[in-house]
Amino acid sequence: MNQGSGATNESPVVPFTDLAAMAREVWPEIAPDYLTRLLGGAYIGGPAVTAFEQEWAAYCGVDHAIGVASGTDALQLTLTALGIGPGDEVVVPANTFIATAAAVVRAGAIPRFTDVSDDMLLMTPHTLAEAITPHTRAVIIVHLYGQMPDMASLLAIAQRAGIAVIEDAAQAHGAEWNGRRAGSFGEAACFSFYPAKNLGACGDAGAVVTSRPELADRIRSLANHGRSNGDSHYDHGCIGTNSRLDALQAILLSGKLAHLDTWTERRIALACRYRDLLGSHQFTGTELRLTGATPLARHVYHLFVVRVTRRDSVRAKLAQRGIQTGVHYPVPCHKQPPLRRFAERPLPVAEQSAGELLSLPMFPHLTDRQVDLVCESLCEAVRAATASSEPVNV
Ligand SMILES: Cc1ncc(COP(=O)(O)O)c(C=O)c1O
Repeated sequence: MNQGSGATNESPVVPFTDLAAMAREVWPEIAPDYLTRLLGGAYIGGPAVTAFEQEWAAYCGVDHAIGVASGTDALQLTLTALGIGPGDEVVVPANTFIATAAAVVRAGAIPRFTDVSDDMLLMTPHTLAEAITPHTRAVIIVHLYGQMPDMASLLAIAQRAGIAVIEDAAQAHGAEWNGRRAGSFGEAACFSFYPAKNLGACGDAGAVVTSRPELADRIRSLANHGRSNGDSHYDHGCIGTNSRLDALQAILLSGKLAHLDTWTERRIALACRYRDLLGSHQFTGTELRLTGATPLARHVYHLFVVRVTRRDSVRAKLAQRGIQTGVHYPVPCHKQPPLRRFAERPLPVAEQSAGELLSLPMFPHLTDRQVDLVCESLCEAVRAATASSEPVNV
């Protein structure tokens, strides 16, 4: 599997991301621990996993973190631990990675899709409120691309409706709303440490964070074959699954966590540069639009997403110049074949924007010069596509 760029260039001039650069930076610091653990032969659980869980909980400003095997598992285990299952509805935005909605279906519940705002492409108080029915048990708020939506208003609506709030923070390590960290708002929050995430492992990994001790215990038990703390290896209190964070991944994640804030600041600086340069190119119509950012949110720029009406042709022109880009996501969830049966009504912003979204290169080791080249090439490609009236994506 590639890392989501969808690009095909063998040696790009500007890659979409560079995971090896992050690994190279961290390796000298973690090598002794990593090798001791590797050669010591104890790989499941243990002090490295506990240490990372404690560091991650503290970083998010909550009491508990439970390392699991992926962000997808984190979501499904949380739903199941909250007792959400058949007959229950869970509100999810249509513009997200399929795992958000798939976790609801795998938990046996029904996803209710909402549209997103035209500027930030996130769930809004209005779209949440109109999706709630008497069967709704929870909402999964997705901090897509690294930015949190209007949490105060969304939480107020959820509280009035008596439904649980779960944060899908898979793309939002270190993001904040009004000075408070992603992960500290909901009953629980789910993180992915997929390699390309802002905090990424060298394989699949994830975590649930929560300040509710009984929820933490239940998720830990479900993720470990239904075992409970203190029980022997063959005592199983419930039917669980095998979804644990490995010790070697935990060592790498702890090592990378020490760099996360520096890397995030670099992402933010790169995003400012993109905004300044692209903003100065006087596009008057919708041919190139930036995605909005609100000053109340600390956007951690997992992705830098713009909207381009002639997206596919522009993307091809960038690829010819060796600039890798991504599309997050080309098909909104409610239009994906296995989820269409849950689609009840048109969701115009999610549907329209899916044909326009373009993710530009974004990673801490991207250089200013590379950003300049991307902006110059993008603006030229947009102008050329507009001048030759290439077809608009629909
Ligand atoms: C918004 C969102 N939710 C959930 C997931 C699932 O995470 P994982 O790939 O670790 O299962 C991802 C990861 O791609 C994601 O971006």
